[in-house]
Amino acid sequence: MSGTPQPKPWIAAIHAYVPGKSAGADGKPLVKLSANENPLGCSPAALAARAEAAPAERYPDPDSKALRAAIGNVHGIPADRIVMGTGSDELLHLAAQGYAALGDEVIYVRYGFSVYDIAARRCGATPVVAPDADYGTDVDALLALVNERTRVVFLANPNNPTGSYLPRGDIARLHAALPGNVLLVIDQAYGEYVSADDQDGALALAAAHGNVLVTRTFSKIYGLAGERIGWATGAAALIDTLNRIRGPFNVSNSGQAMALAAVKDQDFVSRARDHNRIERTRFAAAMQALGNHGLRPLPSEANFVLVLFEGRLTAEAAYEGLAQRGYIVRWLPNQGLGHGLRITIGTAAQMDAISAAIAEMAEGAQ
Ligand SMILES: Cc1ncc(COP(=O)(O)O)c(C=O)c1O
Repeated sequence: MSGTPQPKPWIAAIHAYVPGKSAGADGKPLVKLSANENPLGCSPAALAARAEAAPAERYPDPDSKALRAAIGNVHGIPADRIVMGTGSDELLHLAAQGYAALGDEVIYVRYGFSVYDIAARRCGATPVVAPDADYGTDVDALLALVNERTRVVFLANPNNPTGSYLPRGDIARLHAALPGNVLLVIDQAYGEYVSADDQDGALALAAAHGNVLVTRTFSKIYGLAGERIGWATGAAALIDTLNRIRGPFNVSNSGQAMALAAVKDQDFVSRARDHNRIERTRFAAAMQALGNHGLRPLPSEANFVLVLFEGRLTAEAAYEGLAQRGYIVRWLPNQGLGHGLRITIGTAAQMDAISAAIAEMAEGAQ
């Protein structure tokens, strides 16, 4: 036999995920506002728990029992309706893999989270992209694409990279119109940033219906992105499917210990949410004030703002100018957003510096 191993054609068609950069072209470290990480770090209790975690030579608890119980306590969910993942990324892939295959269709919105495309293609399914409504989710456009081949609908709420948010009524309407055999995955990676009295109702849908899976992460408001911990909840049959195909030891000893301490420290979560709301409001106002230069911050419920550059200053020039000043943000030409920059909400000082730099560039653009 000769030749080389050939990947499946649907795997060869995948464009690998491009993570946010943390260094400039010359390798110099930059202030990183490109990956929606938490500028406040993580809970001090989580840092203390890391030192006490089970030793590295021991395999972790394969069922993350204590962690699932603690998450269940905070959210009012039975522990057996929770499955842990190596980040919520793993769970998004497992959801597609568990329910879609060659010949099936997976729907998500234009400007949706880029992993959905990879998750759909990875199992041979066809990605189907619903048109947006001014960068937000258009429930009717999405529903119009549902047919007998549809198996999974992915929706991030709030969405990355736009920051857009669908209120409870729209989520309920979307779910009510979907056939029962279509899995609705509501990705709440940024769910904790939404004010506590304005939840989208996804957890209640997941508790009550057989076809709703909600995914969450410790990477964003909990500040544990490096530990790779996510969770999902849904009907018992959905959790059973994901448990069959997940990695058996998919959350590390340190990850389980840190997340357990972090989820019990809801004061830290409140502080991070408040910080984010205050700085996001200030930053959006600063960008809004540059509207006469063609800048347009999209409304955001997440820990970042997508700023559109529709005047003389291009997003690419602003991206380069910020990098020269030591700041790395996210420019997304590969996602049809060559005219936008997604900027993570950092510390107050970082947001002041970024706002001033963008204002200087916008006012100076010829
Ligand atoms: C919408 C959305 N979902 C899921 C993820 C995956 O996060 P993690 O795998 O770190 O939980 C991200 C990360 O940026 C995201 O933006």
